[in-house]
Amino acid sequence: MKIIGVVGSPRVDGNTQKLIEIILASGAEHGAETKIFNLNELDIKGCQSCYHCKTTDDDCIIKDDMPQIFEEIKQADAVIIGSPIYFGQISAQTKAFVDRHFSQIGSDFKSKIGKKNLVLVFTHGNPKSDLFKHYIESTSQLFRFMGYKVQDLIIGAGLRKIGAINQREELIQKAKEIGEELAKLKN
Ligand SMILES: Cc1cc2nc3c(=O)[nH]c(=O)nc-3n(C[C@H](O)[C@H](O)[C@H](O)COP(=O)(O)O)c2cc1C
Repeated sequence: MKIIGVVGSPRVDGNTQKLIEIILASGAEHGAETKIFNLNELDIKGCQSCYHCKTTDDDCIIKDDMPQIFEEIKQADAVIIGSPIYFGQISAQTKAFVDRHFSQIGSDFKSKIGKKNLVLVFTHGNPKSDLFKHYIESTSQLFRFMGYKVQDLIIGAGLRKIGAINQREELIQKAKEIGEELAKLKN
């Protein structure tokens, strides 16, 4: 059982990263192999809209760090993708990662990465946890279209300051429970 964490926040040791680390640590405690990537530290270009992946059987033509991430995702049983909310949407780093999934959608609309179990983590500064409800729902739907099976979701509201997560026992507990549940899953 392998779980991959993908951090879409540029803030090292930020709330998004911490939540993902708690899920992974709990998964590891329950027997899963884990790995974490921080998108901000990787070379991930935005989709160039060349349609090479659609007009040929090839994968994406861009040879940056994204092909390796896709390989890791393909080998994983579950993926955690976390992003802070910036101006009501996912971060630019996460958006580039999302757009690159275009290359993984075949002409039959089937995903080349397979039906991966997914947990989404969103963090934002505003304390109202339902403030971005509609955006988060449509983003979850988008991940389903991209081929993921959305298993669970954490919305960490009121997490503007670095370290704010440490005072949020209910979010920490939920992250631990998710890690335990993920470790039990098999694709
Ligand atoms: C560029 C930018 C835009 C932001 N926009 C919003 C926003 O629209 N709504 C909100 O509630 N918080 C907003 N925030 C706050 C972040 O969502 C919040 O600090 C988040 O928890 C950061 O996660 P991190 O600790 O993982 O970096 C913004 C922060 C930045 C830097």
